[in-house]
Amino acid sequence: MGRQVVFSGLQPTGNIHIGNYLGALRNWVRLQDEYDTIYCVVDLHALTQPQDPVVFERERLEAAKVLIAAGVNPERSLLYYQSKVPQHTELAWILGTLTQMGNLNRMTQFKEKSGQGSANLGLYSYPVLMAADILIHHAHKVPVGEDQTQHLELSRDLAERFNRRYGEEFPVPEGIIPEVGARIMSLQDPAAKMSKSAENLGSRVLLLDDPDTIRKRILRAVTDSGTGITYDWEAKPGITNLVEIFSLFTDTPIGEVVNEHSEKQYGEFKLLVAEAVIDGLAPIRRAHAALEDEEVKRIMQKGALDARSSAEGFQVGVREKVGLGG
Ligand code: TYM
Repeated sequence: MGRQVVFSGLQPTGNIHIGNYLGALRNWVRLQDEYDTIYCVVDLHALTQPQDPVVFERERLEAAKVLIAAGVNPERSLLYYQSKVPQHTELAWILGTLTQMGNLNRMTQFKEKSGQGSANLGLYSYPVLMAADILIHHAHKVPVGEDQTQHLELSRDLAERFNRRYGEEFPVPEGIIPEVGARIMSLQDPAAKMSKSAENLGSRVLLLDDPDTIRKRILRAVTDSGTGITYDWEAKPGITNLVEIFSLFTDTPIGEVVNEHSEKQYGEFKLLVAEAVIDGLAPIRRAHAALEDEEVKRIMQKGALDARSSAEGFQVGVREKVGLGG
């Protein structure tokens, strides 16, 4: 038996923030030790929101660069742009024929985004393409943040449905969702998750933010009334979010963080959080600065070739099962 396969994806729009990092990317990097890892910049998914082509192309390259800087090692992981591997969309079509509209109508992400007035067919079928991303590589494990659990559930259903109808083909993929950090909240509204698209820049820290910006964002983070550093999502979501961020960047268990800092003022604790984030992100900033665009482009071209041939290897079997083989 070879190693199990890990797959995950990230949309290349806006800038990658510490929520993406703590919820998913850190695991992507760690899993490289134990699994065959495949990571994808899901550019087709990003097209479900309006994009300026010139900006989009730049952001796509930038996303790849940040992933590499954050520790995705192209010598150990397959890294590529989704659009360069057409087997994803071919499999998405086939899986779409197994997807009930009821399944898609229930998707909270679709409901949220279509509520903002930008509903299109791509947004509706987004979770089906995501299932294809995972299944095309016969992935076993999918490291993601908590917001992807509903999508992941559909991927599992579709794998089972396909296997039942056409014969055993796909492993049923499982999520790898961190116990702490799966849902980092906005620094301006601890009731909302930190997101790439929120208008208020103060709501997030980006992986490439400079130390001054990081300090400013953390010091201005909305905290709760009262004093004392506690871990309590109900009563003190603002400070609890900062405790989580601190715990993750310093690799200290939550309990220890709370014990050690319980008596501190919010302002004092925020300064510590800011320094921990600055230190934690410094190696990523350095690696990013040292990476040339041309090198990243070469990596992504090679990744596309390898991903295409491996996806095609699996897709041949899928076509045969469905009756599209000859
Ligand atoms: P995306 O690009 O929105 O986010 C990338 C990863 O970051 C996680 N994440 C968070 N984790 C913790 N706290 C947050 N505030 C936070 N915000 C985002 C996400 O859960 C995700 O793991 N649909 C996916 C991309 C995708 C994909 C796939 C993922 C497409 N195909 C196949 C896995 C497998 C998305 O939009 O991620």
